[in-house]
Amino acid sequence: MEKATRPAVTLRAMSEADLEAAHALSRELNWPHRLEDWQFFLEFGQGVVAERDGAVVGTAMCWLFGEKAGTLGMVIVSPDAQGLGIGRKLMAAVMDILGNRTMMLHATEEGLSLYQSLGFVAVGEVFQHQGTAFSVPLPELLPDERVRPMGLRDMEIITDLDARATGMDRRRLIDTMDKSALGVMLTRDHEVAGFALFRKFGRGYVVGPTVAPDIGGAKALISHWLGANAGMFCRVDVTEASGLSPWLDELGLQRVGRVTRMIRGTPVPVDAEFHTFSLVTQALG
Ligand SMILES: CC(C)(COP(=O)(O)OP(=O)(O)OC[C@H]1O[C@@H](n2cnc3c(N)ncnc32)[C@H](O)[C@@H]1OP(=O)(O)O)[C@@H](O)C(=O)NCCC(=O)NCCS
Repeated sequence: MEKATRPAVTLRAMSEADLEAAHALSRELNWPHRLEDWQFFLEFGQGVVAERDGAVVGTAMCWLFGEKAGTLGMVIVSPDAQGLGIGRKLMAAVMDILGNRTMMLHATEEGLSLYQSLGFVAVGEVFQHQGTAFSVPLPELLPDERVRPMGLRDMEIITDLDARATGMDRRRLIDTMDKSALGVMLTRDHEVAGFALFRKFGRGYVVGPTVAPDIGGAKALISHWLGANAGMFCRVDVTEASGLSPWLDELGLQRVGRVTRMIRGTPVPVDAEFHTFSLVTQALG
């Protein structure tokens, strides 16, 4: 009897032409990403695809945020090609691109053991909240605290605050979001103390990143977007450490999932005055 041979899998750089196939893969797993979300990721990132018999069966992406750090995500292997070592090969390829940078990712339950075996260590949890029906009470602002629309000159401040909160230089990401996101700024005593961006993503809209000095500031910023968009499908991915999860549940934005924040390499220094309360997306951090 003739012995069946497994078709060879090859890896190559992801291009714009691969995005429809990549989108089909994420849909196969019921991930909410639109084709536009994949396009957004590739605009300032790099990807690798695994091909078998001329078909894309796997993807992985990474984003270089300065010389010291980067994130990776969108690691997907088609269900009928899983368990064959493709995920491990894709990871090796994106880790090669990231070089000796500190690497961060958000792991699903399925990805955890693969990432652990590659030297990633769990450092926290991120909770995914989303929903459409919510009523948002007006935030209780401190005296001299305001939430105002983002102005043209705020992009520099946003890039700076984001860098302080994450320890990463995400200028290219922020510049790309500038084309599609709306923003509000938190001011205290007329000084900018935080911001939150709002843009289309997946099934509706996402609030993130949200950077603020404390939970009160973060609530004021997030309340703005949820209040202004009541009845619209909104998603907010918050860190466990943010303490925002019970509050979002109360507002009607149910917690629907959790992922594990993992890091490989030396943690990048951050400014203790500012914190990231909600993420851009799980892939980007
Ligand atoms: C996570 C994922 C990318 C792994 O891809 P894969 O090609 O199946 O993985 P590999 O065959 O390279 O296996 C890598 C490791 O994953 C683990 N693994 C693979 N299949 C597994 C299974 N069915 N059950 C448990 N662990 C499994 C093993 O630890 C394996 O290690 P080994 O190489 O020592 O055996 C894939 O399962 C997937 O696409 N899952 C859905 C999307 C997702 O959750 N992605 C992670 C996003 S953070």
